[in-house]
Amino acid sequence: MKFFIDTANLAQIKEANELGILDGVTTNPSLMAKEGIKGSDAVFNHYKTICEMVDGDISAEVISTDFKEIVEEGKKLAAIHPNIVVKVPMIKDGVKALKWFTDNGIRTNCTLVFSAGQAILAAKAGATYVSPFIGRIDDSGWDGMELIGQMAHIYQLQGYKTEILAASIRSALHIVKAAEMGADVCTCPLESILGLLKHPLTDLGLAKFLEDAKKFS
Ligand code: E4P
Repeated sequence: MKFFIDTANLAQIKEANELGILDGVTTNPSLMAKEGIKGSDAVFNHYKTICEMVDGDISAEVISTDFKEIVEEGKKLAAIHPNIVVKVPMIKDGVKALKWFTDNGIRTNCTLVFSAGQAILAAKAGATYVSPFIGRIDDSGWDGMELIGQMAHIYQLQGYKTEILAASIRSALHIVKAAEMGADVCTCPLESILGLLKHPLTDLGLAKFLEDAKKFS
């Protein structure tokens, strides 16, 4: 399973990248706004900086909702760097745009996916990635992981090439479960990635080893 970091914060991207396990970055308009980035020039420069920091797929989300405008915006985003993946919402014009990008060699990430039906449409349109929002599904009282399993089953059965990118991750356990359910990629906050490191027996074991090492060093 590939690891993406789900943030537009450069310090967090740097920290995750330095771990050596990072395969890419996902952003969205809310994450960009959180960093105080304003205006299309600043947005484009921010994406460029991220692309220069991380050697992997960088999802940049369109804010247009009309087919022609999504295509125009997506073309501009894709021109920033070869690693840019254009993130397109799961709406009617979005599906049309996904197909246009597929036919024109631009890689895509279909976002805001909450059902198997939407995941089938994204795959039919040739999306590179599809992003089911696990945490938001769980927040509404449904089971996000069940959707990952259902999607993995359908994609395998139908031979779809679209990669399942588990998004809206809230914890280290979500990452483990997404891997178990067959997600190809997990995009996670830094905190959840670092959460994978934690186990009290590791801390206790290390403390004992370091204490015993003093006896012979
Ligand atoms: C990533 O591609 C998604 O936009 C993101 O994971 C959404 O996460 P949230 O539900 O925590 O906002």
